[in-house]
Amino acid sequence: MPPSDDAEATRAALADVRAAALGCVACKLAGDRTQVVFGTGNPGTPMVLVGQSPGEQEDRLGEPFVGRAGQLLNECLQECGIKRKHIWITNIVKCRPWERTTGGRGRNRDPEEDEIAACRPWIEAELALIRPRVIVCIGAPSATLILGREVAISRDRGGWFTEHPFRPAHVMPVFHPAYLLRQHGPAFDELRRQFVADLDSARRMAVKLLHEPAPSAAPPTPPAQMSLFDEEGG
Ligand code: URA
Repeated sequence: MPPSDDAEATRAALADVRAAALGCVACKLAGDRTQVVFGTGNPGTPMVLVGQSPGEQEDRLGEPFVGRAGQLLNECLQECGIKRKHIWITNIVKCRPWERTTGGRGRNRDPEEDEIAACRPWIEAELALIRPRVIVCIGAPSATLILGREVAISRDRGGWFTEHPFRPAHVMPVFHPAYLLRQHGPAFDELRRQFVADLDSARRMAVKLLHEPAPSAAPPTPPAQMSLFDEEGG
């Protein structure tokens, strides 16, 4: 099915936002980056995944989740029948936060509050244009920004949140795959199982919500979007 005019307009508007983001110098990360890592995927999707910040590989290649954590994410998405081309994947911070090490390639670090605040307009613009039905927050910093309150992933993962600044999307926090990679043996297996179950639950919620009108916005064009998310969708 050809993309609708609506989907084409969203794609064009996101391309404009991306072009503006590529020149962003709103925080100190700008001086140390190889490139801005903007979101990628399907702008007509009902489901957006929001991570924390690019690491070394993402900074090098210019795409979110292409390092080790991204490979684990891809595997787990595939187990739920989700391809990256079905969804939009982005981060709350678009440039790699890192610190110099003696003789090394530098070490990734968590983004600081001022960096998260400076980058907020970009994720707001992405979500305002895509208008996803479901937002999956990968890790606590992402969930804290999207929900507007402190989140403990071990307590809140897999749950649905509907009262937050990005209404009317349904929001689910999940573990960060980088956290899973730091576990071993049965602990890793169990957290990985939970991660896959959460992604699958998010997929099912996105499919369910596509059949319902959005509470406060015009419903997206279901036929084009559903074909991306139905059982046969390729
Ligand atoms: N971790 C993230 O949160 N985002 C990426 O893009 C890669 C690793």
